[in-house]
Amino acid sequence: MKIVILKNSDEVAAYGADIFVRFISKKPAAVLGLATGSTPVALYKQLISAYEQNRVSFKAVSTFNLDEYLGIAAEHPQSYRYFMNHQLFNHIDIDKQNTQVPQGDAEDPFAACERYESAIKKKGGIDIQLLGIGRNGHIGFNEPSSSLMSRTRVKTLTRATIDDNARFFSADEYQPHLSLTMGIGTILESKKVVLLATGESKADAVKAMVEGPLTASCPASALQMHQDAVVIVDDAAASKLLDVDFYKHIEMENRKLNERFDR
Ligand code: PGA
Repeated sequence: MKIVILKNSDEVAAYGADIFVRFISKKPAAVLGLATGSTPVALYKQLISAYEQNRVSFKAVSTFNLDEYLGIAAEHPQSYRYFMNHQLFNHIDIDKQNTQVPQGDAEDPFAACERYESAIKKKGGIDIQLLGIGRNGHIGFNEPSSSLMSRTRVKTLTRATIDDNARFFSADEYQPHLSLTMGIGTILESKKVVLLATGESKADAVKAMVEGPLTASCPASALQMHQDAVVIVDDAAASKLLDVDFYKHIEMENRKLNERFDR
């Protein structure tokens, strides 16, 4: 796990976006795994501006989102499909046919999950997966106690996640308690993982993910098993880590190596 600690959320977004831009420049037909939530929004803004400055094109890119609420349609303003269209896809040159979000209103959600897994496989797997982290350590909607080998499936949300996401729904609006989410096993198969976390409210989850035991109680700790996971956090989200100086030292050494070997 590579830990990158930066001053603030703008720097986190810029660092993360740069990884994606470079990746797509090297592999224009990259398969991206994408995430929703507040944290990726700033990164998406950076990707849009990179596109506007002709620094990247998404023409050949395909995407798979992590998750979707069960029981709401793509047109619903709180659906993750709607979020992705408005925060990213509508502003770049991606072919929407190549963008996939689990189907929240599928007649048979279980079959939809299986189709999702097959579609990822058919594309040759996810090259680079963007992640946020919940305050309870979830990745996607893989809540604590999720199997570390899980695949795309229907998942019940915890009270903590429902409360955290209530801010997006108006008081009289139906808020789903179920979701379709890629599994932890699905996420671990991505060739590269980039996780962003900002703010003090994420400090406990970041500590558990990076320095805690590998445990289903903190689904993000599964990334300790990934061979190419980059965790990008701001000082506030890193505030409970024990080894901050060491992580900063490694990052400095990595930068030198990258310059020297043009990586
Ligand atoms: P947030 O959500 O970016 O809105 O904090 C992260 C997550 O729940 O994965």
